[in-house]
Amino acid sequence: MSESRPLALVTGASAGIGAAYARKLAESGYDLVLVARRRERLEALAAELAGKHRVETEVLPADLTCDAGLQAVADRIGRADNLEFLLNNAGFGASGRFWEAPVEVQDAMHRLHVLATMRLTHAALRKMTARGRGAVVNVSSVAAFIARVGNVSYYSTKAWINNFTEGLHMELKDARSPVRVQTLCPGYTVTEFHDVMGFDRRLVPRSLWLSADDVVTASLAGLQRGDWMVVPGWRYKLLVLLLRLLPRAIKHLAADLGPGGGKRDATTATLE
Ligand SMILES: NC(=O)c1ccc[n+]([C@@H]2O[C@H](COP(=O)([O-])OP(=O)(O)OC[C@H]3O[C@@H](n4cnc5c(N)ncnc54)[C@H](OP(=O)(O)O)[C@@H]3O)[C@@H](O)[C@H]2O)c1
Repeated sequence: MSESRPLALVTGASAGIGAAYARKLAESGYDLVLVARRRERLEALAAELAGKHRVETEVLPADLTCDAGLQAVADRIGRADNLEFLLNNAGFGASGRFWEAPVEVQDAMHRLHVLATMRLTHAALRKMTARGRGAVVNVSSVAAFIARVGNVSYYSTKAWINNFTEGLHMELKDARSPVRVQTLCPGYTVTEFHDVMGFDRRLVPRSLWLSADDVVTASLAGLQRGDWMVVPGWRYKLLVLLLRLLPRAIKHLAADLGPGGGKRDATTATLE
């Protein structure tokens, strides 16, 4: 890795929003450490970016739900003196009522969305605050603003990401640090996410789908402005505003009146 170029570490770089973010960072001159489980995907992206943008790329295959995988990535951050960007993006959705879905899936989701985000952010902020530069973007979701039937761990782990990032933003301000944090809250985005879940994209109106590039562009613009929370797209900005204003009782009523009411098939009800 070059000492003169800034370094970015991207989790979930083998697909979707993570791969799109990695492409944009390479275009802006960052060297990259690419993290996900699928090594071949990471290697293909690393070769593409190194060839196109003349940056250095490294692949670090790791399962971030395992202690060993998470430790390896945290250690890599600990050795990265020029780390200026961390994207905590690796994530997945699931469906089914909490007590009916396998506990292993709930456990893995909390490890990935909560534990990995906390550990890697801690490792990164140690370096970044000491140098007085850098940014951490945690990928959350519009789902963070509600609780709904059928994917309780997803909604609640994303709400944790928002709260965690808001607190860090306040601590960094309190410490007068120029280091930035952002919680990025996309709505439906065309990636492999819904394929992994087995969710039929046709159930959602076309106008609600964002592209991964839209999401990355909004995030980077938000970082320039210093926004700690970014919701890409005007439709979702409006939705989030409503969700933040609506009393809880009305949200619960809306959940009861949704397609299929409280008894609907959980896979049709998930808002990512
Ligand atoms: N797509 C949406 O509608 C949407 C909306 C709001 C928020 N989000 C959030 O956006 C983030 C990225 O999702 P995406 O839409 O880009 O989905 P995606 O295309 O399925 O990408 C998910 C990425 O996470 C990686 N990943 C999953 N489990 C992992 C593990 N145990 N260890 C390491 N890496 C792991 C995957 O790589 P490997 O399989 O190779 O490990 C992949 O690179 C997620 O946090 C998701 O919750 C998505």
